Amino acid sequence: MGFLLEFMGSLLVLLPLLLWARAVRRLPDARNWQRTARAARRRYYYVLAVLALKLLPAALLLGHGLAFGIRPLRTLVLLGVPLALAARDTLPLLNRAIRAAGPTPELRLAAAAPRVVLPARLAAVAGGLLAALNLVVQETITLWLSGGVFALVALVVVVDVTQRQRRLAGQARTVRWSPWARLAAPLVLVVAAAGCGAVGSTMSAFPDRLSMNAHGHHGATSGPAVNVTDLVGGPYSGPVRRFTLVADEARLPGRAEEAWTFGGTVPGTPLRVRQGETVELKLVNRLERTPTTIHWHGVDVPNAMDGVAGVTQDAVQPGGEFTYRFRADKPGTYWYHSHQVANEQVTRGLFGSLVIDPTTGPAAEVDETLMVHHLNAGVDLRRTEPGRRVRLRVVNANSGTERLTFTGAPFRLAAVDGQDLHEPAEVSERSINLGGGGRADLEFTMPPHPVRLGGPATRTALVLSPDGVSTVDQPKSAPELDLTTYGKPRPTPFGPDSAYTKHFTVDLDQGVGFHAGGLGFLWTVDGRVFPDAPMLMVRQGDLVRMTFRNKGINDHPMHLHGHHVLALSRDGTPFTGSPLWLDTVLVRPGQTWEVAFQADNPGIWMDHCHDLLHATNGMTLHLGYEGVRTPFTVGSATGNKPE
Ligand code: C2O
Ligand code: CU
Repeated sequence: MGFLLEFMGSLLVLLPLLLWARAVRRLPDARNWQRTARAARRRYYYVLAVLALKLLPAALLLGHGLAFGIRPLRTLVLLGVPLALAARDTLPLLNRAIRAAGPTPELRLAAAAPRVVLPARLAAVAGGLLAALNLVVQETITLWLSGGVFALVALVVVVDVTQRQRRLAGQARTVRWSPWARLAAPLVLVVAAAGCGAVGSTMSAFPDRLSMNAHGHHGATSGPAVNVTDLVGGPYSGPVRRFTLVADEARLPGRAEEAWTFGGTVPGTPLRVRQGETVELKLVNRLERTPTTIHWHGVDVPNAMDGVAGVTQDAVQPGGEFTYRFRADKPGTYWYHSHQVANEQVTRGLFGSLVIDPTTGPAAEVDETLMVHHLNAGVDLRRTEPGRRVRLRVVNANSGTERLTFTGAPFRLAAVDGQDLHEPAEVSERSINLGGGGRADLEFTMPPHPVRLGGPATRTALVLSPDGVSTVDQPKSAPELDLTTYGKPRPTPFGPDSAYTKHFTVDLDQGVGFHAGGLGFLWTVDGRVFPDAPMLMVRQGDLVRMTFRNKGINDHPMHLHGHHVLALSRDGTPFTGSPLWLDTVLVRPGQTWEVAFQADNPGIWMDHCHDLLHATNGMTLHLGYEGVRTPFTVGSATGNKPE
């Protein structure tokens, strides 16, 4: 199922295919007639065996309700047909050749017959084509071109095989290759291959200028058009919390490279507000040459405040400012980060935590936040008095999945992605997988000895201890906490049996192809990369069901802006514990997730993998509300590049 396995599989088939074709072709002139025939027969069976092994995983996936994908199907058709033809004509001839004392002229001629030679040679051509196709992921673009190349090569092979038989039969050639024709044939192939590349690169190049308005938008819009800049929310009454956050370069202790910071530190200034307060935050950009923005990850802000360069605003230029304004509606653990060249900017430090306390005040006596990030590596020791109720909030600001374990005391997983779980049970020695961008809140009573939250992959860990110095080791491993059954159910506004007005299925995979004007490793949505990935269109009020299927070999934490989605099922297993509201859905290889959300926050919203390297290499799509337009554009000519 994975691309690498696919490609290796293609090569494993291609090699014996070529050797088989070679042996069959040589047979009529072979000096050691019997040995050549035996080798050909052996290689044929080898091809059959490898092909069966290659198709086995796909066949097994069928048992899990996964569709038999286009790749195995194509392999089956392109290789299955010549192999079947060979079983009918080539194999009997090889058997005759092995039994015969020596090659009679009649047998030689039979061995050169097209119906004996062609299956092997066409299978070899098909094998080469399959390997090439698995290398290039935008199959829809190159399929007809590669089909043309295949037809061309097949034609050459057919002519060659018939010519050879005529020669062996002592007949005159019907076709004579002029030196020019000999030169032209490979030239045509080179031009065709270059054509595939050129078409691929223009179709998927990162645009100079692209507006999310027209992008993949089908059908007429109804109602009056709304501009994203009008979707500012408010007016808000009640208390206002004002902040100024300066983006600037800074040198972190012990690091040669300059970091980029919000407020002079990495992680940036921790923001803490109370539910119901209006946040008014002025971003001042003092970075020397780097435009930036702030996105409020997990806070369902009005669209104009979402901070996505080129979609909801222009990136704030050096020396410029932008004021974000939104109401802190739902208490929980969130974070903020740049959404301009996010992969680089978040990696270099432009992120921080945002905690919204309930109206009643802090959720526990001791409230600590841990941001997991490579610039924040190391063991953080903090002093905590025994007997205190502790809320420990952890944010995964890295791109990769973190397997986090809490050790030292029984705990409850109080919240996921900022949303409280209902009646979470107390557990101990359990691990939690947190995808890039995801959050988890743990609650426990501080014991008279140290406790620790961290993971084997992460080099960030937090140790709380009564004296602030003693520590405890990371446990080797702990079973994963199963969120499909954790906590107690409670009514939700919609669920598995609701009548959905829209259903989207999103396939996640990877491959090699053309993107942003170059050839590279890509992460794909429905076999395509941004900006060719489809735009998901909804109407305000739609009840939307989404299916994510991970057909690749990497974790994909899919993050939808502006909405929380309710987890319905994972691999067909329904969520029967506490309702799980997510903004970052960690879809692991082979997994299928069903989630649902209400389209109640009009705008143009990103939906992307929060492994930011994946997002920047294609795994980006958008959720658009009908009638919403943006005056902003993305692309190299605009200075806006959200990923
Ligand atoms: Cu946390 Cu689109 O990002
Ligand atoms: Cu990903």
